[in-house]
Amino acid sequence: MNARESYDGTVQRTLFTAEEIGTAIERMARLIAADYAGQPLLLLGVLKGALYVTVDLARALAAIPDGPSEILVDYLCVSSYGNASRSSGEVRMLKDASEPVAGRHVLVVEDIIDNGLTLAYLRGLLEGRAPASLRACVLFDKPFHRLVDVKVDYVGLSSPDAFVVGYGLDYQEIFRNLPYLAQLQPWVFSKES
Ligand code: IMP
Repeated sequence: MNARESYDGTVQRTLFTAEEIGTAIERMARLIAADYAGQPLLLLGVLKGALYVTVDLARALAAIPDGPSEILVDYLCVSSYGNASRSSGEVRMLKDASEPVAGRHVLVVEDIIDNGLTLAYLRGLLEGRAPASLRACVLFDKPFHRLVDVKVDYVGLSSPDAFVVGYGLDYQEIFRNLPYLAQLQPWVFSKES
């Protein structure tokens, strides 16, 4: 049984296939490689959602000649959704980065941006640590409910105005392992209070 078959009852439709996501990441990687050519780059993935995009972006960058001189990969872990499909609006740092940020070119890698509070929080926090430069890369942009105007430097794909799962994104910690982006059946959320 593959991942698609095992979630057949809960997935309503596939929004982006694994191939479409891969193409979008390669497109972002080409832009990033050109912007950081010859410079060391620290990719800072935001767990848990950006688990896959950070790895795939790092690999795509490695395949491009004349890109960054070296690439470091690090993660931090924040929580903003709790276990529901609506954001709590409160961003909590669960695990900080282990690599120092000061004096480095830092690229924050996010899975999705919705109200923008997570990225705004991270930008504020990391700016305070005096990086040489700070940019943000977001795989899925969901622009419909922004609460803050936060700069995103690289965008992969546009998400519809829906709660989406797969490719790192979860609902109550499930569905992250789907290789594609999907929308769930409405009944999945019906038990939320
Ligand atoms: P924001 O703070 O509302 O911009 O949301 C950022 C975080 O919320 C992301 O890193 C995700 O972890 C989570 N998130 C936002 N939208 C979705 C979604 O549709 N599905 C799953 N997680 C989401």
